Amino acid sequence: MLTSSPKWTLPNTRAVSAMKFALPLLIIDFNSEALIMSESDYLLTNIAQIHGILDQGVECLKGSNMQQINKLEKAYIKVENGLIADYGSMQDCPNYEGNTIDLSDHWVMPAFVDSHTHMVFAASRHNEYVMRLQGKTYEDIASEGGGILNSALRLQEMSEDDLYNYAKGFVEQAMLCGTGALEIKSGYGLSVEAELKMLRVIKRLKAAMPIVIKATFLGAHAMPKAYQYNREAYIQLIINEMLPVIAEQGLADFIDVFCDKGFYTPEETQTILSAAQRYGLPAKIHGNELGLTGGVQVAVANKALSVDHLEHLSEQEIDCLLQSDTMPVALPGSSFFLKIPYTPARRMVDAGLPVAIASDFNPGSSPHYNLFFTWSLACLYNGLLPEEGFNALTINAAKAMGLQKTHGSITVGKTANLMVTKAFNHMNELPYWFAQNHCVKTFKVK
Ligand code: NIG
Ligand code: FE
Repeated sequence: MLTSSPKWTLPNTRAVSAMKFALPLLIIDFNSEALIMSESDYLLTNIAQIHGILDQGVECLKGSNMQQINKLEKAYIKVENGLIADYGSMQDCPNYEGNTIDLSDHWVMPAFVDSHTHMVFAASRHNEYVMRLQGKTYEDIASEGGGILNSALRLQEMSEDDLYNYAKGFVEQAMLCGTGALEIKSGYGLSVEAELKMLRVIKRLKAAMPIVIKATFLGAHAMPKAYQYNREAYIQLIINEMLPVIAEQGLADFIDVFCDKGFYTPEETQTILSAAQRYGLPAKIHGNELGLTGGVQVAVANKALSVDHLEHLSEQEIDCLLQSDTMPVALPGSSFFLKIPYTPARRMVDAGLPVAIASDFNPGSSPHYNLFFTWSLACLYNGLLPEEGFNALTINAAKAMGLQKTHGSITVGKTANLMVTKAFNHMNELPYWFAQNHCVKTFKVK
């Protein structure tokens, strides 16, 4: 419900993405339609409840603190220059002449942060989905040349423009589900040319979309067939031909390696991470999806920002994580879709760890980007409580991609990257009503 604003327009989402954004910019989405305002100063009033308030300086929530969600009832939020300038109870609401948006009967919370996706790819892998329904495993399919290698063949054939347009559609859909910051990995190129092509597509998305997107170089996602018997040659290609160009052209923010059974060993991972360190690329590691394979140890030894998957985790890995600043990330969408074990997030939080969750959106193991569904899965199968799931998708997810100072909470000085839902009886209802999109509007400023 808008109380004032002569400068609003009402295009559909296609029109939103086609527009050249002048930053800073505020966008408000109403389901499939969006209101756009070219200003970044406004006041939200009469908010039924604000959730996810954190003091300045809180970078993540660990252990029993993950159950904490600070809220305020009947409140306002004042946004200036795209940043949260102030919030408080309606009785202290300042007089304001500018754009004022009445959010009676609505909740406001920080937009979700999706810290792990493979959102650029060429095509679905529906055939492999059916092969798995008929009894093959993800690993069977990968060892027969399907899986990531299949995606790489398709991507190598696809034009950069087509890849960009396909991915842009997914980013828009994720935004409509409340995603307000996004990490996207390469790793379906697996050649110098195709990896650079993927990263250029991500760079275009960064420039065009009204949310923060971070690019992760995942050249070591699978071993290309041509190098199957000469693994060292592909690793040298990553180190000598890909990394220098990526660094020079500023195409990546992070480096990732799929350190797992049948993919890259911890020693190979270390070689690649040591090379990436020379370019100042922090690590985000795929580890322990398929076994206890040393992924956690190599991630922690390299001070990785995050180590993701962790479907297999012993006490030893939990101890190792407890002594680190590396964020463990659970990806319940891929456990659900591949029917593999779920990351033991309950055990991890009970041991005092922080946990983040992410969609892992990709065509092979997790073709979904609706983080409300991820939240429900995390509660039902990873053992998180609703409040823990909320923090895992906001402040902890922000830390998993280095955005904890600007995203992931309602904090004065942070980006006004906000999501609006209708007012519920209790926070529990958000993951309870599963497989829904509860986001009715988002406010985004890059
Ligand atoms: O995170 N596990 C490795 N990479 C992706 C899957 C990629 C694919 O199957 O295409 C993941 O699940
Ligand atoms: Fe992944």
